[in-house]
Amino acid sequence: MRSGKLITLEGIDGSGKSTQAEKLLDYLKGKKIKCKLLREPGGTDVGEAVRHVLLAAAGEGLSMNPLTEYLLFAASRAELSRTVIKPLLERGSVVILDRFGDSSTAYQGYGNGVDHDFIIHTNVIATGGLKPDLSLLFDIDPETALARPGDFNDRIEKRGLEFFKRVRKGFLTIAGQEPDRFRVIDASQGIETVWEEVVKYVDGVLCERVSER
Ligand code: TYD
Repeated sequence: MRSGKLITLEGIDGSGKSTQAEKLLDYLKGKKIKCKLLREPGGTDVGEAVRHVLLAAAGEGLSMNPLTEYLLFAASRAELSRTVIKPLLERGSVVILDRFGDSSTAYQGYGNGVDHDFIIHTNVIATGGLKPDLSLLFDIDPETALARPGDFNDRIEKRGLEFFKRVRKGFLTIAGQEPDRFRVIDASQGIETVWEEVVKYVDGVLCERVSER
């Protein structure tokens, strides 16, 4: 039985979601709510090793077939979902997850042409059907993201603005298909304005958790 909540944060590189993930962790800890912040790819020994392969390949400009890339992300996701996330949710924890399956649909699917249905289907298998209770999409146009300071700039420049435009559009399409699960936040606003929206949506989901008890 799952009594916890899974909250995923999604968006293109430079959308500021990792800053909001940290703020959310502090906020929940302050309320004495059992919580854990995890990131994808990573979060397990296998996942961190896969992350190293993927990010090193991206950084060194090694060519990798998009399907291979997707399967590596999915492998990391399978390990994290089954060995870490599921047990945490069963113990009643709130899990904040910096990226999940929707990143694969957006980046490898919309961005790099891997079949969307294949990704969605295999994501369900990899995660054992794990579905977020809430997914926050930090939406920003790639030009604005690129103008922000951070090491993601290199990544955006390497893959090109057109790639990130497809990824952004992909995220918006995915969010539009599941309006009950997704909340789209304008991530070009200031950190505190974005944060106010994050709190509003997260409090909404946590209220359900209390009233379910
Ligand atoms: P990371 O340094 O974690 O960036 P961020 O803070 O933006 O999440 O790097 C993760 C990179 O991997 C990022 O460019 C998005 C990409 N990615 C995919 O392409 N597919 C996926 O399924 C996931 C989880 C990430």
